[in-house]
Amino acid sequence: MENFTFYNPVRIHFGKNQIIKLKDELKNYNNILFTYGKGSIKKNGIYERVIDMLSDKNIIEFGGIGANPEYETLMKAVEIGKKEKIDFILAVGGGSVIDGSKFIAAAINYKGDDPWNMLSKYEKFDSAIKIGTILTLPATGSEMNGGAVITRVSSKEKLAFGSHLLMPVFSILEPEVMYSLPNTQISNGIIDAFVHTIEQYITYPVNAAVQDAYSAALLKVIINEGPKVLKNRLDYDANANLMWAATMALNGLLAAGVPEDWSTHIIGHEITALYGIDHAQTLAIVLPGVLSVMKEEKSEKLLHFAQNVWDIDINNNNSTVIDMAINKTEEFFHSLGIKTKLSDYNIPNSAINEICAKLENKNFIKLGENKNINPEIVEKILKYQN
Ligand code: NZQ
Ligand code: ZN
Repeated sequence: MENFTFYNPVRIHFGKNQIIKLKDELKNYNNILFTYGKGSIKKNGIYERVIDMLSDKNIIEFGGIGANPEYETLMKAVEIGKKEKIDFILAVGGGSVIDGSKFIAAAINYKGDDPWNMLSKYEKFDSAIKIGTILTLPATGSEMNGGAVITRVSSKEKLAFGSHLLMPVFSILEPEVMYSLPNTQISNGIIDAFVHTIEQYITYPVNAAVQDAYSAALLKVIINEGPKVLKNRLDYDANANLMWAATMALNGLLAAGVPEDWSTHIIGHEITALYGIDHAQTLAIVLPGVLSVMKEEKSEKLLHFAQNVWDIDINNNNSTVIDMAINKTEEFFHSLGIKTKLSDYNIPNSAINEICAKLENKNFIKLGENKNINPEIVEKILKYQN
């Protein structure tokens, strides 16, 4: 196992009516920037429940943070936050609202020229406004990590940044909020959590028995519980299991002491930046190609995956076993109603060169756990599905 430091201070309040914990969590803050998305919380009652809890606070609302949160929108919140001298950000929404709020939190305290440099130039920052979240869509794990992914429309870029300073102080997870999600968002969440686990699991072995066993178990839970949620949207336990699985998939635990891949995500972000496809759908397009094209160097972990996640008998020829596991993965995505080819999303073949060129320009030329996925290999990965 590799050396690691594991740190995760996020307090999780999980279950029914956990929103009441807001009173205590916010007792030391007064000027609260309440951020949310494009209106779902006003339709499903979460907005009123939050407002009820904040009756003794000065609340500054900032709604309208859309999917794949945009720098251009978020900078408006940064101005408001500075003017109003906010001392806390309460983000109520899915990964986009939470990520956007993390950017706002860092940008309000940012001292340099342009807060975008924190993403584009990896500029370090040493303070951020504190943030708490109420998660409404289990998928990204943003509620229990310090990462965020922001899109800049003007330059068609989608970049990630992160810091322990952006880890929420607390996150409230009420599985019942999932009842109002459209089926597609449930499927997206299942795939995002699934691929987060894979990015930290299917690399090369370092004898990390706990992490390998946790990853395989988490994938099994996602494979079993996800479809239950889609079948019976009001099955509380299935919703709860899926929600907690998605949080566990990206809170740092699986990554501790093991190599990580993330090539599927980095390639996927380019597809979203260029064509606006949902994050999880880009992952469904890219992952089968990554596993297949890189199968030799990932072979030991792919065999572990085949045996421990898909229950495939490994007495067969190894290459056949691996192909079966990759096929089962793709079939699982299809069973959730998510398609896996670029052409399914009307993305032309010319996109492949465009994506490779963008990655090359950004110095993302060497992706993957072995830093050897260059633009030619990205091309092969994207052609795998077409
Ligand atoms: O905007 P509203 O009206 O709230 O509607 C949202 C949005 O349209 C809706 N929604 C959310 N909760 C709902 C609901 N509708 C009904 N009932 C509810 N309870 O769902 C739509 C999608 O929301 P969004 O937040 O965009 O989805 P998700 O949570 O999948 O977040 C995706 C973003 O997170 C980033 C992605 O790149 C993408 O930008 N990621 C963040 C990561 C992180 N911070 O660690 C890691 C991930 O890999 C990912 O990259
Ligand atoms: Zn993701």
